[in-house]
Amino acid sequence: MSQTHFGFETVDEAEKAGKVKGVFDSVASKYDLMNDFMSMGLHRVWKAYTVAVANLKEGDVVLDIAGGTGDLSRAFARKVGASGTVVHTDINEAMLRTGRDRLLDEGLSLPTTICDAEKLPFKPGTFDLVSVAFGLRNMTHKDQALAEMCRVLKPGGRLLVLEFSKVAKPLQKPYDWYSFNILPKLGQWVAGDADSYRYLAESIRMHPDQATLKAMMKTVGFGHVDVHNLTGGVVALHVGIKC
Ligand SMILES: C[S@@+](CC[C@H](N)C(=O)[O-])C[C@H]1O[C@@H](n2cnc3c(N)ncnc32)[C@H](O)[C@@H]1O
Repeated sequence: MSQTHFGFETVDEAEKAGKVKGVFDSVASKYDLMNDFMSMGLHRVWKAYTVAVANLKEGDVVLDIAGGTGDLSRAFARKVGASGTVVHTDINEAMLRTGRDRLLDEGLSLPTTICDAEKLPFKPGTFDLVSVAFGLRNMTHKDQALAEMCRVLKPGGRLLVLEFSKVAKPLQKPYDWYSFNILPKLGQWVAGDADSYRYLAESIRMHPDQATLKAMMKTVGFGHVDVHNLTGGVVALHVGIKC
């Protein structure tokens, strides 16, 4: 049995998805509140930047993978208009349900489906744009998921991967201190769950850095990949073009 990482823990590959499910089942109801607290609102800026880079037009067909509570799906839906489509997906029912309910409350009804990024239930060449925000880090076979994202894009289509990444050197010490001392306490206080936010800090450290992820995207078939560092590399937006 192959092994992989769940945060700093080494686990059998077959165990990881269940452990990730436990994290998101636990935090789903407090996920949006916690995002604002722990990033001091910055996740809104990172997502707004992603939407700007997406540069969608009316009629575009978009797949939001690991869409969770739907921030990107909602913003994309406004851009593609009634003639376009945004498919809101996630592997986790609790996250997807929370997102779908929230979007419905705001008058937005999108096609919504549970799906695993590693086995996408869509035909090759379906989408103009695929996004995955803060989701890739949690996947067991990241190369398989990236290959699936490439497969379902139209030729010339783009993949946007928004994810925590490797921070610039001067930020490393304060960022580590915040991540391992403050974040779990915030998680306990706001969501009643320190462990899930300890996992978040650990999983960020285990995630491929900017250059490694760029190389992975090229290997699975993206002809061109740009990297945009945000907030000193706390987050990076990788933009891959299928060409
Ligand atoms: C941190 S949340 C991100 C939610 C949303 N994209 C956002 O930016 O607010 C990560 C999401 O990745 C989802 N996820 C984890 N593994 C996945 C997989 N293999 N396929 C699809 N989604 C997955 C989780 O269920 C969770 O909802």
